[in-house]
Amino acid sequence: MGIHRLGILGALDEELEFLQNRMRCTSTWQRAGKTFFEGLLEGLTVVLSRADVGKVNSAITTQLLIDRGEVEAVIFTGVAGALVADLEIGELVIASGALYHDVDVTAFGYPLGQVPRLPKVFATDAFLNRELQLACTELGLQHRMGTIASGDSFISRPGQRETLAENFGALAVEMEGAAVAQTCYLNGIPFSLLRAISDRADGIAPDDFRAFSKRAAQRAAQVITRFCRRLSATG
Ligand code: ADE
Repeated sequence: MGIHRLGILGALDEELEFLQNRMRCTSTWQRAGKTFFEGLLEGLTVVLSRADVGKVNSAITTQLLIDRGEVEAVIFTGVAGALVADLEIGELVIASGALYHDVDVTAFGYPLGQVPRLPKVFATDAFLNRELQLACTELGLQHRMGTIASGDSFISRPGQRETLAENFGALAVEMEGAAVAQTCYLNGIPFSLLRAISDRADGIAPDDFRAFSKRAAQRAAQVITRFCRRLSATG
């Protein structure tokens, strides 16, 4: 499977800055308050946009990327909070799947996290994951694969992190991935998520985020750059 037109999303400027500085932008367009940048990154045609924070923002942006951007696959790059003790700040997580940690229809018999008529976990694409893994390896960067949990809250209150880890067995938490995943799933578009750890989703997470998110985001973006180079070489 070759990807010739890739959608790249992040939530924050700092998650996309590195990529924007390296891409050769040929056109831009705007819709729903989002700006989309089309051009070449490492020889691959990409459409890049800042989704902004949260599930609704990222679902809207993903749908626009698919409809008007006509991308063949979507990658989300950014930072996340670690939910397991042995995941260090700066380490990379490639999502094997994404789920919502703030969806609860258990009153009607659905497992926690599952939206009715949708899978509980949205599986990421095997080809994209392999290319992300190879890009990490080429750069000598350690990475883990596992479930990423998404919801509309920054996780830092006592007990929250433990509850999420226990309920969902996820490696990391963020605020967009599962919404991107759901949108891609409904459109039949392959997708994956790459996150670098910026904090431990604990009481000092806001301070850690301020201190480390830029560097962590840059590391994830470096992998995306190498990933694009690989995709453009394999055509
Ligand atoms: N993104 C980065 N850190 C996060 C956290 N602790 N909670 C939610 N999203 C995050």
